[in-house]
Amino acid sequence: MTSKGSKKILVLNGPNLGRLDLRDSKIYGDLDFAGLASLITQAGAELGLVCDIRQSDSEVEMISWLHEAADKNIPVIINPAAFTHYSYAIRDAADMVAAPLIEVHLSNPMSREEFRHTSVISGVANGTIAGFGPDSYRLALIAISRM
Ligand code: DQA
Repeated sequence: MTSKGSKKILVLNGPNLGRLDLRDSKIYGDLDFAGLASLITQAGAELGLVCDIRQSDSEVEMISWLHEAADKNIPVIINPAAFTHYSYAIRDAADMVAAPLIEVHLSNPMSREEFRHTSVISGVANGTIAGFGPDSYRLALIAISRM
């Protein structure tokens, strides 16, 4: 809990999400990452959650943030982006987080190319929310606020 009694959560975003506005808008919509971050901040505040929103293209950095969540017992919403499909290192780090951990995706990977149909993260997440654009994060925030 923060000093104001709000609950802090980490919202972690993987590779290429920092350049959201340059990706295929038919798949990812029109928001840039700053716009996505402000939507998450506001949606979290409405639920009494203080969102620490981070983005990295580095697997090492993502793992260090998951270690931080594990050490400080902070709930996590994570969009692992392409790491979703192959990073056992991120899976193992996520597995050490005892607090709630929810996997989110803007798109629905199951309706896209076959390599996206595998998530190595889902098995260590409390749940996965995918395919609702920025609302995937909003729904994950609601879920975390009830856990
Ligand atoms: C994504 C889906 C992944 O397959 C892809 O590599 C991404 C974004 C999503 O939010 O829809 O970078 O995680």
